[in-house]
Amino acid sequence: MIKKTFLLRLVLDFVAAGLLLAALAYYWLDNTAHELIGTGIFLLIVVHNFFNRRWYGAISKAREARSLIDVMLTISLLVAMLALLVSSLMISRTVFGFLRLKGGFTVRQIHILAAYWSLIFVAIHLGVRWKRIMHAARSALNISGESTARTLALRFIAGVIAAYGLLSSFVMDVGSKLWLQMSLDGWDFEESTPGFFLNWISVAGLYIFLAHYVLSGIQKRKRRADSPPEVANTPVCKTAAHFEGDLPSHRLQIPTDLVPVKQNTAGRDR
Ligand code: HEM
Repeated sequence: MIKKTFLLRLVLDFVAAGLLLAALAYYWLDNTAHELIGTGIFLLIVVHNFFNRRWYGAISKAREARSLIDVMLTISLLVAMLALLVSSLMISRTVFGFLRLKGGFTVRQIHILAAYWSLIFVAIHLGVRWKRIMHAARSALNISGESTARTLALRFIAGVIAAYGLLSSFVMDVGSKLWLQMSLDGWDFEESTPGFFLNWISVAGLYIFLAHYVLSGIQKRKRRADSPPEVANTPVCKTAAHFEGDLPSHRLQIPTDLVPVKQNTAGRDR
């Protein structure tokens, strides 16, 4: 059973991710709405960090490749978010306008750059935890047991979203946005608002897909390398902690001295 507080945290995280997309649609909203949405995101990030404060204590204990990669990516997300926060305070015209920090052109550029990198790092951050999210979704929907058809259908949908995300990366000119190359194209919200969100959601989907499958691949290789060859094909024992990605799955090994030996009971009943 998944804890109710974990589900609530997950819902809040998805609200923050949705607001992040809304904040990217700067020219769809007016400046005040943008600033209020952005401030809401920062409040949700404070809540997120409070609930996950134990992670900071675990940084120094990270040893395995998977954990080290996760630490690096999470610190990158933290840096991008801090840049977004500081630049927001400096360029604010309404919510934090009273601070009169007067950020110039460079600060605005940093704000925009940090915003797009934050989206990419948030997507990767989600992808690294995708197994845990799927586990929570299964638990919330009361789905138990394995189903090959369901797995294949979900993988197919994930593949389609990733492919669409690749296409959308060109449509939204993601490369230029991440490397601060001036691009003259602005999204025409008069023409299509859903198109803007669909493109950015699928770009995020692409990075979730990549992070999830690349890390699963690394974990599988490590597990294979760690398993003694004679038990390589035996079933894998999984507990809730394994779904959360905190522990490696261990193959079931029954020590030979515990295997029951057929006893010769002939003549005992007589
Ligand atoms: C936290 C999430 C946020 C994201 C993802 C975000 C994203 C963006 C983006 C992409 C733009 C540029 C639009 C463009 O010119 O192409 C922008 C502009 C701007 N943002 Fe944010 N923003 C966020 C938070 C905030 C906050 C909290 C504030 C202030 C309280 C703020 C204030 C502004 C202002 C004033 C501009 C206009 C800059 C200019 O004059 O060109 N933003 N933001």
